[in-house]
Amino acid sequence: MVQGGRSRTLLRIPHPMRGLVFSGIQPTSGIHLGNYLGAIRHWVRLQDSYDCIYCIVDQHALTTVHDPEAMRANTREVAAALLACGIDPQRSILFVQSHVAAHAQLAWVFNCVTPLGWLNRMTQFKEKAGKDRENAPVGLYAYPVLQAADILVYKATHVPVGEDQKQHLELARDIAGAFNRRFGEGFFPLPEPMILGEATRVMSLRDGTKKMSKSDPSDQSRINLTDDAEAIATKIRRAKSDSIEGVWFDEQNRPEASNLLTIYAALADRPRAEVEAEFRGTLFSTFKTRLAELCVEKLAPINAEMRGLLANPAHIDRVLADGAERARAIAEPILAEVYDRVGFLRL
Ligand code: TYM
Repeated sequence: MVQGGRSRTLLRIPHPMRGLVFSGIQPTSGIHLGNYLGAIRHWVRLQDSYDCIYCIVDQHALTTVHDPEAMRANTREVAAALLACGIDPQRSILFVQSHVAAHAQLAWVFNCVTPLGWLNRMTQFKEKAGKDRENAPVGLYAYPVLQAADILVYKATHVPVGEDQKQHLELARDIAGAFNRRFGEGFFPLPEPMILGEATRVMSLRDGTKKMSKSDPSDQSRINLTDDAEAIATKIRRAKSDSIEGVWFDEQNRPEASNLLTIYAALADRPRAEVEAEFRGTLFSTFKTRLAELCVEKLAPINAEMRGLLANPAHIDRVLADGAERARAIAEPILAEVYDRVGFLRL
């Protein structure tokens, strides 16, 4: 239970040697195995060596989610999932983006230092907007500017993410540099991406060339943290495979087998080469059974914990309110300094 005044290890001013970790996740729907293996598992571990701030980015999700009830439910579900995975609100700050106005306020300042040409290069906008670009919301286009503001409003130094966020993080560094050149060298740190572990890009279970994603219309393409043991086993059994006997890593020619091996290695916390050596001569179907068992073993405790948390939404809301208060205490003075530097009149 989080109570005001209780001592916490996250310092108001981050320790200069340790650096400050920031990362975010969209409440577009529940969390899947790609989010877990590519990001959240690392967020949990980083709590041992960094001060960490983790944010549920509902304002980013608004670019694609247009159902208010779904947004609210997903926000609580993602909070429950993060807590169940091991984000500790006593050590780290966990909060919802729209509860800290400074993100959007800094984003506007960044909109005014970011050249249009930089955003034109963003591949995620092109993918998400598709052919109907004229009707894509402005928010989807400006999305990476808000992402830069999320990180820099805390002067965060390290950003653990999956591989798909690389381009957005390069842009965040460019925006920090553009602001610094205009308003004061060294004001913002250039945040370092942390793309960690074996599973930096977990692929769909139905198509090994496509990323596992919340937006894939087929639920069979992903394993959700809310899936029960039976659903996990069924999805892995039905996962696309090839007709080659034995399992080994070959991303070009065997994308599905390679993806499942990577998932196994990440879940087992073992080097991929070691797992590959173990299963090289194993039938694909036997390997899948072993993978399903491992997946259930690792995800069942998270699933149970999540259910318990979701039964008590008032507790989740208290954790998020406390997190927002602590986040504001860091972000507001930094935003005030930005406002001074750009010349907004202070009364
Ligand atoms: P989002 O919500 O799509 O995903 C959250 C995290 O999960 C990672 N991820 C994956 N990793 C491996 N394999 C996959 N298939 C996979 N799918 C998702 C993502 O890389 C991410 O780390 N734009 C961000 C949210 C964001 C953010 C930020 C991140 C907003 N502001 C500031 C870092 C810092 C996004 O859409 O993540």
